[in-house]
Amino acid sequence: MVLKKIYKALEKSPKFELIELPFIDVTEDPVRPELSLEFRQSHGRKIYGIRDEEGDIAAVMCFAFTHDIPKSVEEMDAMSRDAAMQAIHRAGVQGTIAIAYTVWAKKKGGGKHMVNEVYKMIKESNHLSRLVTLSPLTDMARKFHLKNGAKEVQVNLTTQNFEYDIELSEWEKLKGKVTEKWRNTTWSIK
Ligand SMILES: CC(C)(COP(=O)(O)OP(=O)(O)OC[C@H]1O[C@@H](n2cnc3c(N)ncnc32)[C@H](O)[C@@H]1OP(=O)(O)O)[C@@H](O)C(=O)NCCC(=O)NCCS
Repeated sequence: MVLKKIYKALEKSPKFELIELPFIDVTEDPVRPELSLEFRQSHGRKIYGIRDEEGDIAAVMCFAFTHDIPKSVEEMDAMSRDAAMQAIHRAGVQGTIAIAYTVWAKKKGGGKHMVNEVYKMIKESNHLSRLVTLSPLTDMARKFHLKNGAKEVQVNLTTQNFEYDIELSEWEKLKGKVTEKWRNTTWSIK
């Protein structure tokens, strides 16, 4: 038992690199194959993948950025268009919530590592503060997100939302408040 724990601790943890993907074959997406590449890249939306040590893409996750939690793909479409427009007009940031609307693994375990890498990216981001999913109403999606530590936000007619809590240290909270205050001051000067 003790030996097993020591072996596990000594095991080299696999390394992944989170990268933005300029192109994917959307027909490989088992969740939302109907969404075109153009949909996934317009209005500030992004496609991310994780590259493993062999240079392979182990998982893919697609994102839209919004200020609210959408209950459907249509709502997400409208919300992320709005956020993108606001960002242009106010030269501001485009949505504070990262909505992960699809994820799939190309290698076993890739899905879990994808969540971990995205979590780190959002924690380090200055403008994104929440990581929320727009998941299909499947048992797989539910088990996968709950097992990875997400909490259920709500179950909708055609989707379900889960949220990965981005825990911030006291220092990070303070830094966020100062940045926000500075941003507001800049606006009022203008
Ligand atoms: C969900 C998915 C991303 C998980 O990938 P992964 O991290 O590489 O992990 P695994 O395949 O090892 O599965 C991890 C957990 O997901 C859940 N899961 C995976 N396949 C499942 C299935 N067919 N039915 C129910 N739950 C399932 C389980 O909780 C599983 O843990 P377990 O193996 O201890 O039971 C991957 O199975 C996938 O690509 N599925 C198809 C797309 C999809 O449904 N995406 C999720 C919704 S957006």
